Amino acid sequence: MEIAEVLKNFCQEFNAYLETCFPLPEGAEQRTVAAMQYAVMNGGKRLRPFLLCECAGLFDIPHNISFPAAASLEMLHSYSLIHDDLPAMDNDDLRRGKPTCHKQFDEATAILAGDGLQTYAFEFLASAQEIQPAIRLTLLQLLANAAGAFTGMVAGQTLDLYAVPSGNPQTDENVITRLEEMKTGRLLRYACEAGAVLGKAPLDVRQHLVTYSRKIGQAFQIADDILDREGDQKLVGKTLHKDDSQSKFTYVSYYGVEPARKLAQQLIAEAQSELEIFGIKAEKLHKLARYIIDRKY
Ligand code: IPE
Ligand code: IPE
Ligand code: MG
Ligand code: MG
Ligand code: MG
Repeated sequence: MEIAEVLKNFCQEFNAYLETCFPLPEGAEQRTVAAMQYAVMNGGKRLRPFLLCECAGLFDIPHNISFPAAASLEMLHSYSLIHDDLPAMDNDDLRRGKPTCHKQFDEATAILAGDGLQTYAFEFLASAQEIQPAIRLTLLQLLANAAGAFTGMVAGQTLDLYAVPSGNPQTDENVITRLEEMKTGRLLRYACEAGAVLGKAPLDVRQHLVTYSRKIGQAFQIADDILDREGDQKLVGKTLHKDDSQSKFTYVSYYGVEPARKLAQQLIAEAQSELEIFGIKAEKLHKLARYIIDRKY
């Protein structure tokens, strides 16, 4: 089966589960919850949940155990997108082909929806009875670290907003790599690591998945930056050419599209070689790595 078809089937099953995760309160507080649901249930590719479930699947962990962890991760990712789109950050009107959360609702509601999704992600994971308590605690710590302000997604977003080229090529390349690794890479890495933790994988085996995820994470952000420059807006579902208009410090803006494409291809090949020890069981992860740089949205 083509990987696009595999992902489509996964999305159907996972979205049906995700729909069930949001209680709708009575009263005026409904507004924020409706905005949270709007941001989560709107056609995301679900790559992080897919990675988490596939990595857990390498150790025969079924979906009834991996889905709660995957849902919590997708909530956290969706929060990061709501806040990323806010006027104070990237000021975007379009997300997944629809008005961004603050356009559909209003800015204050979007801030609250992001806050609500972030806390609910942790509440949901902490409450997942299907996962053994000690494993849950490890996942909570890993997720908080991956999302956080020290070396996680928030740290990466800080660099995205405030890092500027220094003029020293070596320093600049290090900053771009760190930025990509943190703002995008850390949640993708968490997805793979969480799969290994759920599967109680030995550390050396887990390390292969960590290296795989770091390589695809960097390639994923490069692909996102290439799509921003030369994608088809109808397919991408986001306003394009934002990185240039906002002078973002990316591998593409620094080196140009062709060197970026070359690096992404090299990273994907390196990522795929980390999967050898899993044999045929990792076939979908192998194909997904390629999909990450071939995707049109
Ligand atoms: C977009 O992530 C934000 C980045 C980290 C580049 P995705 O491309 O996975 O977004 P969705 O979830 O499919 O909309
Ligand atoms: C966003 O990176 C990364 C996070 C939300 C953490 P971008 O700003 O490049 O993502 P898009 O292009 O808006 O999806
Ligand atoms: Mg951004
Ligand atoms: Mg953005
Ligand atoms: Mg982008």
